[in-house]
This record gives sequence, C-alpha cells and structure tokens, in this order.
Amino acid sequence: MRCVVTGGCGFIGTHLVDRLVRDGHQVIVLDDLSTGNLEGLNPLAEPLYCSVTDSHALAAATEGADVVFHTAAWARIERSVADPVGTHAVNAGTVASSSGAQRPMPKRWSMNRPQRR
Ligand SMILES: NC(=O)c1ccc[n+]([C@@H]2O[C@H](COP(=O)([O-])OP(=O)(O)OC[C@H]3O[C@@H](n4cnc5c(N)ncnc54)[C@H](O)[C@@H]3O)[C@@H](O)[C@H]2O)c1
Repeated sequence: MRCVVTGGCGFIGTHLVDRLVRDGHQVIVLDDLSTGNLEGLNPLAEPLYCSVTDSHALAAATEGADVVFHTAAWARIERSVADPVGTHAVNAGTVASSSGAQRPMPKRWSMNRPQRR
C-alpha cells in the first residue's frame, strides 16, 4: 500500500514508519521537524518537509494514498495551554480541512488517540 505518515519523525511516527517499511509498504513521511528529527527516520521512507496545516501540501502528499496515519501533533501540555488554537489546528483541524479540500480522498485516515487505561 501507499501510506502517508504525518509526524513520521516523532516518537510514535518513527516506530510506525519502521513497521510499515518492514511490511513492504511504500511510506511517505510528512513532518515539519518542529519536535521530531531525521536521525531515527527509516532511510527507505520518503520525507517531505512541510506542515500539516498547509492544506495544499497535505493534499498533494496524500493524493493517491491508501491510508494516512495522522501522528503529527503538538503533544506538550504546556504548549497547548499557551496556544490552544494552534494546537487544535495541528492535532485535529488538519484532518477536517484536508478532507474537505481533497478529491479523491485517501481510502482511510487513522488518527492517533490517547490510550484508555
Ligand atoms: N508518546 C506516547 O507515548 C503516546 C501515546 C499515545 C498517544 N500518543 C499521541 O501520538 C501523537 C504523537 O505523539 P509523539 O509522542 O510521537 O509526539 P512527538 O512530538 O514525538 O512527534 C510529533 C511529530 O509531529 C511533528 N509535527 C508537529 N507539528 C507538525 C506540523 N504542523 N506539521 C508536520 N509535522 C508536525 C513533529 O515534528 C514530530 O515529529 C500525539 O497525538 C500523542 O498524544 C503518544
């Protein structure tokens, strides 16, 4: 499958990318490197440096994708308190805006959710 992983240079994304590559999928990573880094990124993944809040870049990157894994996030609580609107734009607004803009849609979006304990 053709997979896009937003935030693929972060903690969760890096592990997800490794697994997808190992399973033989084509993996495109979309990350702005605001907290992630390239050191742990699987060399077989194709990195695109841009923000998920850039709806045009997101639409271009996800065109023809079978699945988009959305792990790009502002994950720090302090940052979300300081800038709740910016946090929402990255963590959730991205999907809504790109869903509306994109034709055809990827077959599947997968959102990263906090685990239940
Ligand atoms: N770390 C955990 O144990 C854990 C557990 C459950 C759920 N989660 C959730 O998984 C998600 C990712 O968490 P993480 O720990 O991997 O965070 P992280 O900070 O390590 O990774 C986030 C990645 O998103 C990128 N990013 C941030 N803003 C971006 C933007 N505008 N455009 C493109 N890329 C952007 C960062 O550069 C980074 O690579 C969060 O929603 C978090 O709540 C994390």
